[in-house]
Amino acid sequence: MKTRQDLQALREKARAALAVRDSQGGARVVIAMGTCGIGAGAREVLGALLDELSLRGLSEVTVSQTGCKGLCDQEPLVEVHMPGMPSVSYGRVTPQIMRRIVAEQIVNGQVVSEYAIATGTEAG
Ligand code: FES
Repeated sequence: MKTRQDLQALREKARAALAVRDSQGGARVVIAMGTCGIGAGAREVLGALLDELSLRGLSEVTVSQTGCKGLCDQEPLVEVHMPGMPSVSYGRVTPQIMRRIVAEQIVNGQVVSEYAIATGTEAG
């Protein structure tokens, strides 16, 4: 389990990245970081997301966090918004699944349908 300092460092990293990418209109990934999301592993999913984006040099992708989505049993929950595509919500995301979502949806535009629980739930 990561410490509070680790979480703070992840948040600072995400915030700094967001400041750079803000307003560019590219892909956006939102991770639910409510209590149950964190309890289910959302911190590790956020860490994997930031790491994978960095490894791939995807600096145009916006990463943000939200609170409780009211779907405890589906946590960790991740929404992916891509320009020109309906948004996709993924449930029970692990760090490995997060890395697949980056590779398959963000890089190649293919929804990872086995983990998608809803599409088009928000304006994409
Ligand atoms: S407390 Fe679990 S979704 Fe809100």
